[in-house]
Amino acid sequence: MDPAVAEPEPATRQPVLSLRGISKGFGAVQALTEIDLDVHAGEVVAIVGDNGAGKSTLVKILAGVYSHDTGSVSFDGQPVSIGSPAASRELGIATVFQDLALCDNLDVVSNLFLGREITKGTLDEEEMEKRSWSLLRQLSARIPSVRIAVASLSGGQRQTVAIARSLIGEPRIVILDEPTAALGVAQTAEVLNLIERLRERGLGVILISHNMADVQAVADRVVVLRLGRNNGNFRVPDVSYEEIISAITGATDNVVTRRAEARNTERNAS
Ligand SMILES: Nc1ncnc2c1ncn2[C@@H]1O[C@H](COP(=O)(O)OP(=O)(O)O)[C@@H](O)[C@H]1O
Ligand SMILES: [Mg+2]
Repeated sequence: MDPAVAEPEPATRQPVLSLRGISKGFGAVQALTEIDLDVHAGEVVAIVGDNGAGKSTLVKILAGVYSHDTGSVSFDGQPVSIGSPAASRELGIATVFQDLALCDNLDVVSNLFLGREITKGTLDEEEMEKRSWSLLRQLSARIPSVRIAVASLSGGQRQTVAIARSLIGEPRIVILDEPTAALGVAQTAEVLNLIERLRERGLGVILISHNMADVQAVADRVVVLRLGRNNGNFRVPDVSYEEIISAITGATDNVVTRRAEARNTERNAS
């Protein structure tokens, strides 16, 4: 192998998605102030923070639901603007909102291909069914049949269908908003496995979560928001539960992270 073309180290790789100085206000409320965020291919980044920290606002900016007031977004190193949900999808960002937005009365295949149906004159049900199975198999998903109504599936299976649907458009970044919040232990484990499959496929995953056990089980990095500001950016193997909680509650003003960030900035600048 030619060393000159070897893969660069993950730490120096260009992020797929990069936010710098993102701020967003709603009237008098400053929901986000100067947020920075990088997400690389094959990386799971958890975003944690107390209620009101700004997590949903950040997700909605990335999903093209809200515009930001200041700051910049780049994708593969190119400055981009995410002016609408369609623009977000076209860039390669898929968002699975907490309500999942599934059609309960429709079967799994119809939900997966809703709005992106495959046709050959008429609907190509056979092809869509084949692709549904193939996708679910790749995700090691346990769905009994793709021809049953989504209403009859468990919470974990519904989450699986919503995540599988987000992959139909071949995204590079998948955003999951509290995917395990409504789930029991076994179903949570299934969804965490699914997140690992997404990482193996080389996707960048943004995981919004309240559950530190989930975060520590599956994330590579955890970014803490507090009162709309960055208050920590940790590699999961290097951080304890207590340290994450302190950053969330503000018990620590993250001196360590600030130092690390300052060093990164210097390195990138040189
Ligand atoms: N549409 C909105 N209009 C006014 N204020 C909002 C709106 N959305 C969020 N906020 C405010 O912005 C702050 C961040 O909220 P949010 O992003 O929902 O936080 P989180 O998802 O972390 O709980 C909160 O103070 C919230 O009240
Ligand atoms: Mg929220």
